[in-house]
Amino acid sequence: MAAHSVRLKTLGAETLCGADQPVLDAFLRENVWLPHGCAQGTCGSCKLRVIEGEVDHGAAPEFTLTTDERAEGLALACQARPRSDLLVEPLADIADDGVVRHPLRDVVGTVAELTDIARGTRRLVIDLDEPIPFTAGQYVELTVPGTELRRQYSMANPPSETSRLELHVRHTPGGAATDGWIFAGMAVGDRVDVRGPLGVFGVGRPQDEPAILIAGGTGLAPMKSIVLAALAEGLVPEIWLYHGGRTEADLYDGDVFRELEGRHPDFHYRPCLSEQEWDGASGLVTDVVLADFTSCKGMSAYLCGPPAMVEAGAKVLKRRRMAPRLIFKEEFTDTSDLLSPSTAEEERT
Ligand SMILES: Cc1cc2nc3c(=O)[nH]c(=O)nc-3n(C[C@H](O)[C@H](O)[C@H](O)COP(=O)(O)OP(=O)(O)OC[C@H]3O[C@@H](n4cnc5c(N)ncnc54)[C@H](O)[C@@H]3O)c2cc1C
Ligand code: FES
Repeated sequence: MAAHSVRLKTLGAETLCGADQPVLDAFLRENVWLPHGCAQGTCGSCKLRVIEGEVDHGAAPEFTLTTDERAEGLALACQARPRSDLLVEPLADIADDGVVRHPLRDVVGTVAELTDIARGTRRLVIDLDEPIPFTAGQYVELTVPGTELRRQYSMANPPSETSRLELHVRHTPGGAATDGWIFAGMAVGDRVDVRGPLGVFGVGRPQDEPAILIAGGTGLAPMKSIVLAALAEGLVPEIWLYHGGRTEADLYDGDVFRELEGRHPDFHYRPCLSEQEWDGASGLVTDVVLADFTSCKGMSAYLCGPPAMVEAGAKVLKRRRMAPRLIFKEEFTDTSDLLSPSTAEEERT
């Protein structure tokens, strides 16, 4: 099928977009950075206005893009395919924020390591045939073999390592990528299709504000990348890293963070357990943060993990007077989140 021209009204940037290619994909490959988050239709942060032309909304779910919004000419850049030449404008700000971006690309890699590191959690290391430069906090998508399904996993390695990706994967019962592949047939030496980098979460330039990092489960992956990059490059004046789990079986890489804590007085590591008494912090990670800080004014935060934890953490930080514009969130949504918000909530509980 023919490609169509797609132009951004304010920036004037133009790209050719295949008839079966999402508009977001076309621009990111040209390194024209559009706002986005999940790349799978669940977050809504890639919404744009179609000023001229027509799109196919693809798999955009009704709760992210309502019938009324479609009628008003809105679309999700990560789902919309052009049906004609287009003139579009993202709803979110696309002003230059000083972060160096890297073009989206497809690369093949080889599984170099696959290790159980915590309850239902594996470290997956992939050696890439060609490097994928990225910013600390970003993610890649893996294609489930024999399907067109893509799943998102955040880089845990620092951006200085572009040819070997470290991913932390949590097992999801019944999940196509995890239950059916990464925790089933995947083996060292397998070839893997990788697409990236994606996402706007993370620390891409030096900042003045100290940062609180709150991770639930494998939400630790982008935090590890952020911590390693921030400490190596002096990006953040002071960092508190919180990692929440139910019991000690859910925690991992504590030795890495304790070693970093020993070498960097401005880095603090705080693992928290919600269902086990121990000599560390006990309680939900959000409650531990609440108890640790009487005020978070002038600080920033990065939250990553299950959507419920991320939302609870953001509320706690606002209660402690952190400015909402300094709270950055990455929610690990999955296919169940595409069904409807209420069904997704039932699946999680
Ligand atoms: C930006 C981003 C970054 C991420 N980073 C990470 C990371 O670093 N580490 C990590 O572990 N995860 C991460 N995730 C989550 C990850 O991408 C996958 O969603 C997760 O691994 C589950 O994938 P899966 O294919 O195994 O499960 P899926 O196939 O997506 O299934 C998920 C759940 O939905 C159910 N389900 C599927 N289809 C249906 C249906 N039709 N009806 C009812 N129920 C259904 C399944 O039974 C299962 O319980 C990230 C997600 C995002 C959006
Ligand atoms: S990036 Fe399009 S809905 Fe999340």
